[in-house]
Amino acid sequence: MQISTFPGACTAADRLTMRILSGLQPTGRLHIGNFFGMMEPAIRLQDEGEAFYFIADYHSLTSVQDPTALRENSLHLATDFLACGLDPAKATLFRQSDVPEVTELSWILSTLTPIPMLENCHSYKDKTARGMVPNTGLFTYPVLMAADILIYDSDIVPVGRDQKQHVEVTRDLAAKFNNTFGETLRIPQARIKEETAVVPGLDGQKMSKSYRNIIGLFEEEKALKKKIMGIITDSTPVEEPKDPDTSLVFTLYKLVADDSAVSAMEEDFRRGGTGYGDFKKRLFESVWDYFAPMRARRAELTANPDHVHYILKSSAEKARTIAAQTMDRVRKAAGLR
Ligand code: ADP
Ligand code: TRP
Repeated sequence: MQISTFPGACTAADRLTMRILSGLQPTGRLHIGNFFGMMEPAIRLQDEGEAFYFIADYHSLTSVQDPTALRENSLHLATDFLACGLDPAKATLFRQSDVPEVTELSWILSTLTPIPMLENCHSYKDKTARGMVPNTGLFTYPVLMAADILIYDSDIVPVGRDQKQHVEVTRDLAAKFNNTFGETLRIPQARIKEETAVVPGLDGQKMSKSYRNIIGLFEEEKALKKKIMGIITDSTPVEEPKDPDTSLVFTLYKLVADDSAVSAMEEDFRRGGTGYGDFKKRLFESVWDYFAPMRARRAELTANPDHVHYILKSSAEKARTIAAQTMDRVRKAAGLR
């Protein structure tokens, strides 16, 4: 990727590597939609540039108002990130609230944000349509997300498709800031892995914590088996051929099984003679095996939370240094200094 340079960005202009940034809210258990949509692509990118990944705890205050739960969820999410392969020697893993400057940038950006831009955001519309009574934080969430991205001069933002619009809002706000106050902020790009941009849940809708249709990454074996064996399928008799392309079981299997196993299942679908119970069993076994190394690593990390705390703390210092540089430019440009 060509890294563009622009005046005003002190360190960004000299940077040769691309900067990658993404965040996850510590609002509950991680599911395989989060994993394949965002976490796995993000972890891969740690080898391609300077990666910053954070636990979006300010964001989750819009829905979690239990301090113990928030602290625990944050630690669990950091542990999960590390268990899934985030290498702290390559990527900076920190807690959003350890860099409070981001809320200042959010305020400054909010003064440039037209209300209709936020009213248009699908995620907000979706939540209110489902009966959630919105607080102001939920409404202005995309502005804080823009601040998260812009404060680290990010180039690439790996996310699932549902976050694309928020990255577009970020681009608009950065451009608006630059037009108003002079070139100051770097314009980022969303990076969406098309094959896994929307992982379906157990009911076939997008997998989401809010839809209660998730397959958790680290479920207990029995619970996982029960969920997968409970997937509703059509009533095609065992002996008849079945269409893999419309099957949720096959779609999920492609995420976790290797190529030869996928081809074998596809053939069995088309040939007939195999029932859905058998396909679901294969799916369960593959999900279980796929996450086995991560489960083992997670058990080690869980036994040593001080190690995780240490990583979060030292990474936050690095993140904060960068944020402070951006804020110097922003304050100067806006006339605050
Ligand atoms: P949820 O919908 O379960 O609350 P989040 O909104 O916290 O999930 O999403 C966290 C990250 O995971 C985002 O980058 C989002 O785009 C991605 N993600 C969430 N669900 C899916 C899915 N079903 N398929 C692909 N990516 C997803
Ligand atoms: N909004 C994202 C989500 O719900 C989390 C998030 C917050 C984020 N700030 C971000 C993602 C900045 C990417 C970049 O999943």
